[in-house]
Amino acid sequence: MTTTSTRYATAAQNGAGASAGPLLQVENLRTYFHTPRGIARAVDGVSFTLEKGKTLGIVGESGCGKSMTALSILQLVPEPAGYIDGGHIRFEGRDLLDLSWSDMRRVRGDDIAMIFQEPMTSLNPVFTVGNQLTEAMTMHGKFSRDAARARARDLLVRVGLEDRADQVLRQYPHELSGGMRQRVMIAIALSNEPKLLIADEPTTALDVTVQAQILDLIRGIQKEEGLAVLLITHDLGIVSEMADDVAVMYAGHFVEYAPTRALFHDPQHPYTQGLFASLPARTRRGQDLATLEGVVPEATAWPKACRFAPRCPYRWQTCETIPPKYRPAGSDRPVRCHLYDPEIKDRPMDRAPGVQATAVATQEQARARGGEPVAADVHGQTGAGLSSDVPADVDPVNPLTPAQQMGLATERATQTSAADQETRP
Ligand SMILES: Nc1ncnc2c1ncn2[C@@H]1O[C@H](COP(=O)(O)OP(=O)(O)OP(=O)(O)O)[C@@H](O)[C@H]1O
Ligand code: SF4
Ligand SMILES: [Mg+2]
Repeated sequence: MTTTSTRYATAAQNGAGASAGPLLQVENLRTYFHTPRGIARAVDGVSFTLEKGKTLGIVGESGCGKSMTALSILQLVPEPAGYIDGGHIRFEGRDLLDLSWSDMRRVRGDDIAMIFQEPMTSLNPVFTVGNQLTEAMTMHGKFSRDAARARARDLLVRVGLEDRADQVLRQYPHELSGGMRQRVMIAIALSNEPKLLIADEPTTALDVTVQAQILDLIRGIQKEEGLAVLLITHDLGIVSEMADDVAVMYAGHFVEYAPTRALFHDPQHPYTQGLFASLPARTRRGQDLATLEGVVPEATAWPKACRFAPRCPYRWQTCETIPPKYRPAGSDRPVRCHLYDPEIKDRPMDRAPGVQATAVATQEQARARGGEPVAADVHGQTGAGLSSDVPADVDPVNPLTPAQQMGLATERATQTSAADQETRP
């Protein structure tokens, strides 16, 4: 089995893109927007690889560039303000950025499919589900109209609508519940047997039970067909269950990348530690990531050196003058933080790179280096819940969540009621 390390190294070394390589190699992708306030660098040097049958989760707060990364792969960045400034997106060795519009159209839907958080934005309200499914299959010429009709029904059965497949084929999207619409979206996405599924918050609007069904469905199909999945979500519970590797995105670039289990055991970047501070475990699926104090900066004005510095409890002067490198290059656990860079010699804390973080960011230390005081040992608090194989929940004997102890606010994702989602009058 190829290791993550090999996968990352492949991207870093930028091989010629033979089809034997990873299914998807994204290298130094930059997607920018013209705005009245200047150029917004929404995606600013993102690199990763994804292999057949694997799932990469991308997590990060709102506005970090997750969706724009996904839309860039499909070249669906909103124009004319948005544009891909540079980089490579190799799919089976071909750079998608070199393809003509019509070739790219074939790749979309045929090889790479995407599902969104809100299926109504992708389903056409004036056509029946049957029409839309059939159209998706015939427009790429892979299936005849008759074959497409038969397959449309099969697909609905496959996505769990066996009891009502014939009825759903005749229905319009607005006649379906949220869960049913998301199933239909998945059926459309899978209709041309794609090799890569990009799922951008695929279950956020659904209640917990339907979420679980949809995720099971994606996992099942992935197992059967070797589908690769790029999963964008705010929900760490979903990431822990679905992803092989996780990329943590902040301010337009990745700040940490790791195999899922390793990341949950030992989140290294201070931003990841902050996100994990309220650690939504499986039992708390549906709860959002912690909301750290402060906000993601404007994409037109990323801080010059470390982009997380204004919010980082560990920051010191160097963080505001020298951009941290994403290192070690080629490793399976790159992290973008001076705390882990042996070349940075003026760290104010006793914290060696690669060693389980033991830094104690006491109020005195924080004040001594001119930073914001924090309520507790940052890693000690998050680490308390990170020693098991799966994400742990908040210590039941401690009334305060680690996030609260850190002075971080937590936020519950708005949950749409089950009744509204799956059961319609
Ligand atoms: N149409 C647009 N015009 C200008 N800037 C844009 C536009 N769309 C996105 N951006 C910029 O791109 C950044 C990243 O947006 P993106 O949608 O990728 O965030 P995200 O990580 O998916 O957030 P969320 O979790 O809320 O979906 C935004 O912060 C914004 O600065
Ligand atoms: S480089 Fe400095 S400011 Fe940035 S995350 Fe690391 S410690 Fe914090
Ligand atoms: Mg998004």
